[in-house]
Amino acid sequence: MEIILSGIRSTGQLHLGNYFGAIRNFVKLQHTHNCYFFIADYHSLTTHPTPENLQANVTQVLVEYLASGLDPEKATIYIQSDVPEVCELYLLLTMNAYVGELERCTSFKEKIRKQPNNVNSGLLTYPVLMAADILLHKAHKVPVGKDQEQHLEMARTFAGRFNRLYNNDYFPSPKAFNFGDALVKIPGLDGSTKMGKSEGDANAIYLADSEKTIHKKIMRAVTDSGPEKPNQEKAQAIQNLFDIMTVVSDKQTIAFFEEAYSKCTIRYGDMKKQLAADVYKFIEPIGNRIRELNQKPEFIREVADYGAEKARKSARKTISEVREIIGFRTV
Ligand code: TYM
Repeated sequence: MEIILSGIRSTGQLHLGNYFGAIRNFVKLQHTHNCYFFIADYHSLTTHPTPENLQANVTQVLVEYLASGLDPEKATIYIQSDVPEVCELYLLLTMNAYVGELERCTSFKEKIRKQPNNVNSGLLTYPVLMAADILLHKAHKVPVGKDQEQHLEMARTFAGRFNRLYNNDYFPSPKAFNFGDALVKIPGLDGSTKMGKSEGDANAIYLADSEKTIHKKIMRAVTDSGPEKPNQEKAQAIQNLFDIMTVVSDKQTIAFFEEAYSKCTIRYGDMKKQLAADVYKFIEPIGNRIRELNQKPEFIREVADYGAEKARKSARKTISEVREIIGFRTV
């Protein structure tokens, strides 16, 4: 059976981009596949959170996973640092990851720009730890958004190199995956091409946002002065609103505003009101479950313990096989 794995960094609340890039696929696949979904808290250390922030963020992400429909009885849902076997695989993979290729990675270059005073080596080897996450359970498919494409390519490189070095086909070649479609990239409300948690609060719609907050954020989203001639090409900020509409609104609504845009009769205020209503309709049940689960810390702890136990079983098997392949003492 194909193995599916994905994860999200524990750096704050989940947003629509996380949902449509990764979680949505998972909610579907967990019924038919062997699925692992984890919270990347080791990865979050690259930005040096305080212990209180780290703990609160991990719990928050776990609550939001469950609220989004991930089922701990169907999928293995765990916290990365509960499965320290990943650190050993990470170390072993670093021996075949070349500094030059890590330095060329787009996300590393971006991080250097964003946090010039904290260019730690964890940022450089970030893709190796991510490859270790994936290969630890020998995953075939990795549901992610478009921004993770290069990391997946690197995971394939490291897996292939390991297999060639030891002359076997131990690790499958993991593929970035989106249900029946191209990888998605949900844009931001501030006119930027990506919704992200580090882009500021006016950019993202969080799964826990209230109706009022959603309305306020969308009504303030960047627009332009409107189309001046029929079938005019859309500015990025306008395209962004249409792109978000594509994932939450029905076909007739989208067609209505597309036509209004191409005929220059569109009123952005009306479009935003409709978009805010559709986003809220989509998010409301998830938000309600988040608030319910926030009242059940014991249940959340049990879910984490149960997931850790299942994930460690699979991890221990891989580590023991990898040690044997490399030639470490087995008895
Ligand atoms: P992270 O935490 O930045 O994002 C988690 C997931 O959400 C997707 N995503 C988006 N998809 C579409 N549009 C967006 N605007 C958007 N923003 C985020 C991301 O593509 C991702 O799927 N390195 C990873 C976490 C990770 C991981 C892994 C993922 C660590 N190890 C192993 C898969 C497998 C990250 O930082 O994702």
